[in-house]
Amino acid sequence: MFTAIVAETGRDDDGKHTAEVGIREVDDDVLPDGDVTLDVSHSSVNYKDGMLLAGRPGIARTSPLIPGIDVVGAVTETSSPDFAVGDLVTVNGAGLGETRHGGLAERARVDSASLVRVPEGISAAQAAAIGTAGFTAMMAVLALEGDVGPDAGDVLVTGAAGGVGSIAIAVLARLGYRVVASTGRVDEQGDYLRSLGAAEVVDRAQFSEAGKPLQSQRWAGAVDSVGSHTLVNILAQTNYGGTVAACGLAQGPDLPGSVLPFILRGVRLLGINSVDAPRALREKAWSRLATDLDRDLLDTMTETVPLAGAQDVAQRILAGTVRGRTVVDVRA
Ligand SMILES: NC(=O)c1ccc[n+]([C@@H]2O[C@H](COP(=O)([O-])OP(=O)(O)OC[C@H]3O[C@@H](n4cnc5c(N)ncnc54)[C@H](OP(=O)(O)O)[C@@H]3O)[C@@H](O)[C@H]2O)c1
Repeated sequence: MFTAIVAETGRDDDGKHTAEVGIREVDDDVLPDGDVTLDVSHSSVNYKDGMLLAGRPGIARTSPLIPGIDVVGAVTETSSPDFAVGDLVTVNGAGLGETRHGGLAERARVDSASLVRVPEGISAAQAAAIGTAGFTAMMAVLALEGDVGPDAGDVLVTGAAGGVGSIAIAVLARLGYRVVASTGRVDEQGDYLRSLGAAEVVDRAQFSEAGKPLQSQRWAGAVDSVGSHTLVNILAQTNYGGTVAACGLAQGPDLPGSVLPFILRGVRLLGINSVDAPRALREKAWSRLATDLDRDLLDTMTETVPLAGAQDVAQRILAGTVRGRTVVDVRA
């Protein structure tokens, strides 16, 4: 038996979504197929986790389901030649907390195809602090840096005080980019964002409404967690030949714009999907996180809660009041 958060979702007689989420003792035989079993030490609360923990529809593809799209732990059993008992490992995405049991539990079984050994120097708690948000931010940086170097001009990061945004700022600034952070919390989080390395902090309201299809060129590149009008305005303001990495939908999943930035300015829009990333890309991103993310800064953007605190964080992440990253110490 082990302790886990379990989400039971379904539909009532009127077809309305129902959800019951809480801490339960569960039997080991609920663990899914997979070639590596872990004693989990840490997970985290990402926006997706927040939705499921708060009982919202759209995340769980099966019920009952242990939420948690990130898992960090020590290998206890393995039939994979690539991992040994005792290895500290992590998985981000790969269906965890969506189609198969995730990380908000003391035990997990995963597929080694998406498993990564936590690089030397990164603790279990820091690996969870990085989590899907940090992995996604690094994927966006890898996409961007192929096209846009630090001398090309300003790089905009939206959703700046969130998990992806905070880590993207810290990494880009360390790599020498001049980073402009866009946030809805300029007064409250301005100092925090500058402490991560933002050279300038701007109000997200300037991007959030419909604008002209081509606007003054301001950005060599951007990492966008927001989507919708924000992404369309950023594309309209991106320099000739610039690149925008799109990784989120905090404002909305729509893209209500025109092709003019692409065909008149050669702007590139790159999609980022962390969930299905192949192992080679996972390993590359994690090895870059080990060298290009300041772990002292990571600690300053991280709050830690016990398993029993995850549902409370879910409410706050949905309300947009969480800053940076929240680690769940599943054994606390
Ligand atoms: N593509 C992938 O594989 C992948 C992986 C991870 C996450 N994501 C997506 O990326 C986004 C960010 O994830 P996260 O973990 O960083 O979430 P998060 O910690 O909740 O941060 C989201 C941030 O977006 C901003 N925001 C919230 N509502 C907004 C709105 N209506 N308009 C404009 N900005 C808004 C807020 O930043 P400010 O307070 O600073 O404005 C908030 O802190 C989410 O949409 C998530 O689903 C995608």
